[in-house]
Amino acid sequence: MTEELKKAAAQKALELVQDGMLLGLGSGSTAKYFTEGVGRLVAEGMKLRAVPTSRATAELAAELGIPIVQEPVGPIDLAVDGADEVDGSLDLIKGRGGALFREKLVAAAAKRFIVVVDESKLVRELGVGVLPVEVLPFLWRTTAERLTALGASLTVRGGEEAPYITDNGNLILDLLVEGGIKDAASFGDALKRTAGVVEHGLFVRMTDTLIVAGPEGPRVVGRLSGGAVARPNSAQDK
Ligand code: 5RP
Repeated sequence: MTEELKKAAAQKALELVQDGMLLGLGSGSTAKYFTEGVGRLVAEGMKLRAVPTSRATAELAAELGIPIVQEPVGPIDLAVDGADEVDGSLDLIKGRGGALFREKLVAAAAKRFIVVVDESKLVRELGVGVLPVEVLPFLWRTTAERLTALGASLTVRGGEEAPYITDNGNLILDLLVEGGIKDAASFGDALKRTAGVVEHGLFVRMTDTLIVAGPEGPRVVGRLSGGAVARPNSAQDK
């Protein structure tokens, strides 16, 4: 069922794609359905180019014959990506798939950032599960100490013996903030000021449109139209 919902959300986002667009292609299982759809549009003759948010997405896009642009001049027209948690203000936690740094760069470079999720990702307050933070491997233990001083407990993704390494050659520390993240903007700012942090998975005021799929079909919610989508915390740590 969840796969059907993810597909339905991605399919709805495809309706926004127009000939000539430069697209941002997200990472993860929901965004993959969007990329596959873009591949179909290209095969049908639509002129599209894309900036992928991870090596995995770049490989998939290449397999599907989607022209890839590494260093675009000017903005991306439309970026579409999944999320791990979405709150009622359409703020997000992303990065449980490990691609948060490039995902944030692509979202920030886009005129319009569309988030596609199934309804299991909706939370009342961010921080139900872990918040991924990408850190430089150099002196990472000291970075971890500064992060725990912010009130979080953390684990090294993959474990210290064989840590997960991002596409950018960095580590991911998965932070758990007990009681949830009360003020995502200020917590994100504090993370950004922490020496050693490359990027964090809080996407605050970046979402233009949320497409959330439930059993009744996909629903479109715009941040600027003040769409509240909150429901009791339910996202599970992946
Ligand atoms: C990867 C991400 C993904 O967008 C996020 O993990 C959602 O993935 P999925 O659609 O597979 O649930 O942020 O870094």
